Amino acid sequence: MKQIKTKDSSLTFYNARYKDHYHTKSGAREEAFEKHAKALNITEKSNPVIFDICFGLGYNTAAALDLTGQATIYCFENDKEILAQVLKIDQDFRSWKMIKEFIGQFLKDNKTTYEKGNIRLVMLFGDARKTIKKVETKADFVFFDPFSPAKVPEMWTKEFFKDIYKKMKPDSKLSTYSYARFVRENLEKAGFRVIDGVVIGRRSPSTIAIRSSKD
Ligand SMILES: C[S@@+](CC[C@H](N)C(=O)[O-])C[C@H]1O[C@@H](n2cnc3c(N)ncnc32)[C@H](O)[C@@H]1O
Repeated sequence: MKQIKTKDSSLTFYNARYKDHYHTKSGAREEAFEKHAKALNITEKSNPVIFDICFGLGYNTAAALDLTGQATIYCFENDKEILAQVLKIDQDFRSWKMIKEFIGQFLKDNKTTYEKGNIRLVMLFGDARKTIKKVETKADFVFFDPFSPAKVPEMWTKEFFKDIYKKMKPDSKLSTYSYARFVRENLEKAGFRVIDGVVIGRRSPSTIAIRSSKD
């Protein structure tokens, strides 16, 4: 795992197997806040249920916790090697100590649930395309953050988006950094309404997918 400092001073890594970075080099911390937690306006709901699909170092969860201080977050990840990096680095999130405790107890004792005050974090370890089917709670917000569509197209399919859609509440929202046309088309085929997200770190916008209030 090669460590890289991004332009906002937060750290990311390069994954040699996928030949991809975990975050944009323009700012990993900024990406978590601006393309996910703030982009979905997560503070509009009290005690939201959030799915962090592709948890990695957990920056999206950390940004959400820093903003709300109250949430249930289901964390989807399939690689203990990246989770182990969480314990080795210190990042500028108020909730970072909590993220470390959560991951520490998972890696050491296989404990999947962490609770503190109004915060509940649940690790769903394994292939997110399978674990999503087992979640019984429905989400208000979904952070969707796999490696890039060019590298792992199998994570950006209509079928996976449909499975996620089924686990979202009416009027809920999903955020993703990708602007790829086939990604947006697959989101639409799965039933989402797609709108532009913020423009941060590059010329094209990120994507917000809205689940309708019906069905
Ligand atoms: C772009 S990184 C996510 C970055 C992350 N959100 C963060 O803040 O560090 C993609 C992540 O998806 C994970 N991943 C890849 N395939 C997966 C799968 N099928 N199910 C769950 N997680 C997967 C990788 O291990 C990696 O941590």
